[in-house]
Amino acid sequence: METKRTFKIAVLPGDGIGREVLREGLKILNHMGQQFGLQFETQEHLVGGAAIDSEGTPLPEETRTACLQSDAVFFGAVGGPKWDDLEVPLRPERGLLALRKDLDLFANLRPVFCIPELVDASTLKREIIEGVDLLVIRELTSGLYFGEPRGIRNEDGVEKGINTLSYTRPEVERVARLAFETARRRTGRLHSVDKANVLESSQLWRQIVTEIGREFPDVELIHLYVDNCAMQLIRDPKQFDVLVTTNMFGDILSDEAAMLTGSLGMLPSASLGGTAGLYEPVHGSAPDIAGQDKANPLAMILTVAMMFEHKFRIPEGAKAIRDAVGRVLAAGYRTADTMQPGMKLVGTTEMGEKVLEELAQTQ
Ligand code: IPM
Ligand code: MN
Repeated sequence: METKRTFKIAVLPGDGIGREVLREGLKILNHMGQQFGLQFETQEHLVGGAAIDSEGTPLPEETRTACLQSDAVFFGAVGGPKWDDLEVPLRPERGLLALRKDLDLFANLRPVFCIPELVDASTLKREIIEGVDLLVIRELTSGLYFGEPRGIRNEDGVEKGINTLSYTRPEVERVARLAFETARRRTGRLHSVDKANVLESSQLWRQIVTEIGREFPDVELIHLYVDNCAMQLIRDPKQFDVLVTTNMFGDILSDEAAMLTGSLGMLPSASLGGTAGLYEPVHGSAPDIAGQDKANPLAMILTVAMMFEHKFRIPEGAKAIRDAVGRVLAAGYRTADTMQPGMKLVGTTEMGEKVLEELAQTQ
């Protein structure tokens, strides 16, 4: 079997720190590509606020088509105060949401692992977070984010904001199956998170996840209400291995889980489903520090590791990147978000360079 060596990658820096962290990610991607004999055809496209400013829409047709024709989308971040007053359908975030939908990226993988060197950067106690290694699988193309009807209406002189939470059987089945398959490859434990004591959409979710579970008798399935899950993540995160949940719950729980690593600036993600796959850090565009060389590029760099794992299927490449990040942290280098007394403060570019140096030394 001939393995694919050339990959078309759509590069979408977006707004704020998106471009800065993406630049560092690209350096790592290109370096690792050379190491493993991969060719990348990269092309940059507009998305988010940057696209609104120049094209009047957060997801220009040119960007959409390019992403659909790519093997992977390498995504920075979108949004910022400049566009905060726009209506929801015109906001920068809409560019990302439309892309997720158009590329059919129904499963968003957010791995949360405690990096020993960063234990003290977390607000949580060492004994709680040391050894945490979990994966949030967030349904990404349905639920409250996409349900219809939606909007702001005026009914008999009273304003009303509406969103709809709905899930169809196929939508739940496919993300559940992916979650079980993933759990099977890890420790064989899956928590499904819902609010089935109140919401009908969650009742159906729970029923379908249970049904799919029968195809995976080797995976232990545990149902959990979302409020309890939020509490358990802080109380005893080590009880979790894989979590699967709806779009909105996954958005909230994954930010919470990020603190188990010390900083949101450390969390990568991969969105899978269609042919392309979108790779983005979990953090946002952080407009307050944009353009100041302060952002932590490690989430973006770890996102490259996810690309090696899921897209190129080169797990040893992924491991090399993760190990290099670990060594740079062990050497005491920190960006502002994870800075601790006695450590060496570096900027975005220097942090990227350090990881690159580590990778160059070991290959
Ligand atoms: C995320 C972000 C997005 C989301 C925003 C930017 C639309 O918070 O990827 O978690 O809510 O999904
Ligand atoms: Mn979020």
